[in-house]
Amino acid sequence: MSERIFIAVAWPYANGPLHLGHLAGCYLPADIFARYHRMKGSDVLMVSGSDQHGTPITIRAEQEGLEPQQVVDRFHAQFLDSWERMGISFDLFTTTGTDNHRQVVHELFLTLLKKDYIYKDTMLLPYSAESNRFLPDRYVQGTCPHCGDERARGDQCDNCGRTLNPTDLINPRSVIGGYDLEFRESEHFFLRLTAFQEPLLKWVKKQSHWRPNVLNFTRRYLEDGLKDRAITRDILWGVPIPVEGYDSKRIYVWFEAVTGYLSAAKEWAQSQGDPDAWEPFFRDPNSRAYYFIGKDNIPFHTMIWPAMLMGDGTLDLPYDVPANEFLNMEDAKLSTSRNWAVWLPDYLERFDPDPLRYVLTAIMPETSDSNFSWSDFVRRNNQELVATYGNLVHRVLTMTHRNFDGRFPQPGDLDEEDQALLARIPQALEEAGDQLGKCSFRQALGTAMALAQAANRYIDAKAPWQTMKTDMQRTGTTLWVCLNVLSCLRTLTYPFLPFSAQRLHELLGFEGSIQDSAWGVREVRAGQSFPQPTPLFTKLEESVAEEEMERLRAKAT
Ligand code: MF3
Ligand code: ZN
Repeated sequence: MSERIFIAVAWPYANGPLHLGHLAGCYLPADIFARYHRMKGSDVLMVSGSDQHGTPITIRAEQEGLEPQQVVDRFHAQFLDSWERMGISFDLFTTTGTDNHRQVVHELFLTLLKKDYIYKDTMLLPYSAESNRFLPDRYVQGTCPHCGDERARGDQCDNCGRTLNPTDLINPRSVIGGYDLEFRESEHFFLRLTAFQEPLLKWVKKQSHWRPNVLNFTRRYLEDGLKDRAITRDILWGVPIPVEGYDSKRIYVWFEAVTGYLSAAKEWAQSQGDPDAWEPFFRDPNSRAYYFIGKDNIPFHTMIWPAMLMGDGTLDLPYDVPANEFLNMEDAKLSTSRNWAVWLPDYLERFDPDPLRYVLTAIMPETSDSNFSWSDFVRRNNQELVATYGNLVHRVLTMTHRNFDGRFPQPGDLDEEDQALLARIPQALEEAGDQLGKCSFRQALGTAMALAQAANRYIDAKAPWQTMKTDMQRTGTTLWVCLNVLSCLRTLTYPFLPFSAQRLHELLGFEGSIQDSAWGVREVRAGQSFPQPTPLFTKLEESVAEEEMERLRAKAT
């Protein structure tokens, strides 16, 4: 029976371009997972969208003298372009600015309000008397009460990952805009997280398939105890509160952004002309929902959103939350504010998408922070993509094309070495499939590359360029075995390298889109004609590493 897989990916703030950290953190793993499952025949829905509310957007708008909507429109369009060119294959990438989203948020808010999981209370919030306004949480910084980090923000501590209220901070001060700071009482709506403490803990204890970092972080957090959390703010840029008398307040970005997963699924269903098509993804215990996020978003996806779903009572909880750790840049923490980042639109101006997808998968921060460097990028491109994989493909295809008249040869008797390599094909598919299914993407890529290496060893041992002089039958058998490995590598690499896998698909004389192939063995047919081969990848000059390093350094502030 085919599986049903909901792939939810964190909603990027539409306040600046995407960078390599975004890609390695959640978009690339989600896409690899989606492509694998689609090939396997699973029923996949992969959604996300621009997070268009929150302080990151309004700060950017203020800085540029624009309306928030103008900032959002610009970056949302840019995001769509980046996804397309990087091959991130969303079924829907929407925004939190749609009418549908507002309705879905309102419905959920009112359901939780009716069930008394949302209630009214007052709280102290940062206020500037001089400017006569409440300040957003992020305008305030101070010392984290949990870990002592001195640069915790009013909404979250980046060091220990805890969500915070501005009043939790020790020695709070305003850090943006130079406002005077006091705390004033304000009436707000609260999510009764305390009611979910026990059910969440019980649920989390059963998630032994979660990554240890996600599981341990969540357990510790829950064991320390949850606090109710305000889900509205004194701001105007955001989703209105569906209760009369709160015109000067909006729903807090986090409550509504996570609800985006549900509204996106509903929007997708409507766009399919089948408004109920979202339901199986949320209301069938046989469906599995995977939430791909970066580690700074863990509490929202393993506690707050699950609490909201439990509160609603009709919607399925996440199956897995494979959060990645952080990607550093050239051994330093990636920083958008200091412009220490490689931006996707910039990368795409000079390079192909697949080498980046390859390198970011090879170094994906699945279990600990990892480091991107341009010299490693160039080295992996040249040694792994070009030398190990690309050359194998090119050697086999050109030798076959030249000596067998542009057609696949007829194999003769298979010796032990032939059989041993052929036996690795179904094994590799099974092994990589298993690893992909468990979100172990680095390992799965390693499995694919190990098959390419085995084929290189085989071809060196069989030396078809030698046997060609005396034994065409033997040569044909060798190449036929190799061609079957290529057909398998086409499948194995597709989730990671969709563009070059499609090209290999065509170079092997297969028609249509590789997407429609199954995750399984596809034998090449003797006599099948195939086009004149061209290389899959391009070698990069060593100097590229230096140039890109220089470019990065020059722009950093
Ligand atoms: N825009 C936020 C961030 O990038 C939230 C992303 S995930 C969401 O950190 F589901 F909450 F939207
Ligand atoms: Zn902290």
